[in-house]
Amino acid sequence: MSCIWEEVVAVLPPRLEDFNLDFNSTVDMSLVFLLRETVELLYKGQNIDKCLQLSQTIVDFSWEKLNIGTWRDVDKEWRRVYSHGCLFKAVCLCKDEGTVSEAIKTCDMGLLMGAIILDNILNRLVRVLQRYTLGKRPLEDAASHQESSRKKLSVSLPLVQEMRTEMAVPRIHCPSLEYFRTHYLIPQKPVILEGIVDHWPAVRDCKWSVEYIRDIAGYRTVPVELGSRYTDEQWSQTLMTVNEFIEKYVLDQVEQEPIGYLAQHQLFEQIPELRQDIDIPDYCCLGDGDEDEITINAWFGPIGTISPLHQDPQQNFLTQVDVENPDLVSFPEFKFADFQECVLRPGEVLFIPMKYWHYVRSLDISFSVSFWWS
Ligand SMILES: *[C@@H]1O[C@H](CO)[C@@H](O)[C@H](O)[C@H]1NC(C)=O
Repeated sequence: MSCIWEEVVAVLPPRLEDFNLDFNSTVDMSLVFLLRETVELLYKGQNIDKCLQLSQTIVDFSWEKLNIGTWRDVDKEWRRVYSHGCLFKAVCLCKDEGTVSEAIKTCDMGLLMGAIILDNILNRLVRVLQRYTLGKRPLEDAASHQESSRKKLSVSLPLVQEMRTEMAVPRIHCPSLEYFRTHYLIPQKPVILEGIVDHWPAVRDCKWSVEYIRDIAGYRTVPVELGSRYTDEQWSQTLMTVNEFIEKYVLDQVEQEPIGYLAQHQLFEQIPELRQDIDIPDYCCLGDGDEDEITINAWFGPIGTISPLHQDPQQNFLTQVDVENPDLVSFPEFKFADFQECVLRPGEVLFIPMKYWHYVRSLDISFSVSFWWS
């Protein structure tokens, strides 16, 4: 175990003075003293229990401040304090092998709710800890995992209505940039591009299995959307570990209405290992925007997850219509609406023109990546 502790200490700046613990008047002086006392204890490395206790106080105190009022009104200084508290707490937790997963959770809370400090030290630390958990599973998992696999076998796939060929979205294999631009981008027509992501490690090596996601990110805490669709009244967002999400919602929910969905805008920043498995399609360069303006989103959820009819970028007053079971009394014209349909298989890319209405249902456990570009 001394081995992980040494790796963790190596992530910390060499000298205590490298910490910038100056905060403006927003932050009470007593808290600044507490931060300094904590970091000194940490660098002495003797009384880690006390250090952990003080870190927890910093975390709790700044957490309260982060949760007063609306998010954009929170003073950035409090997010810096929170990140420091999380850092100190996470490091202390690594003294004990049994609390490494708790340390990972602490880093993620800092990453999600705090500010970036010390050259993104929380990210560097969590990558060390993540390597340490590679292939490990929470103990209680083994039994429940078997149970859910068994359940899954008894479930039949939801029926896909027969597709009418005249309404099928066309497919083309690796078109040239020019061909794609002329025939689809400029006229704003949807198309399925085959073969353009075959080189992605995620696709080429069939790498993105549920097992792989658990190995890479199982202990990471991420935002999860709960509710079979975000138009539901019970829809909510929460934080949980990827392992919890997979156990409770991806593998276990197959017999009921799907209720979990990991839809994440920062997933690839939070877990760069996953980012390495994908690539921005070359066709995005046909837009006017810079590459760093492209938003990459992750959508990972159980069978049956639905994205209600919508267009991107979303408008605030969007009226949602359930495509598969439309309310024809309120929306009688809906049955005359033109549409195209397709089943998108692994490794295929659907081009959805800007502001084009679309509706998506997962026919299996699915992990999708979307690139928003312009
Ligand atoms: C403290 O610094 C933050 C930036 O980190 C700034 O937004 C805030 O207005 C400052 N508050 C005071 C009271 O100076």
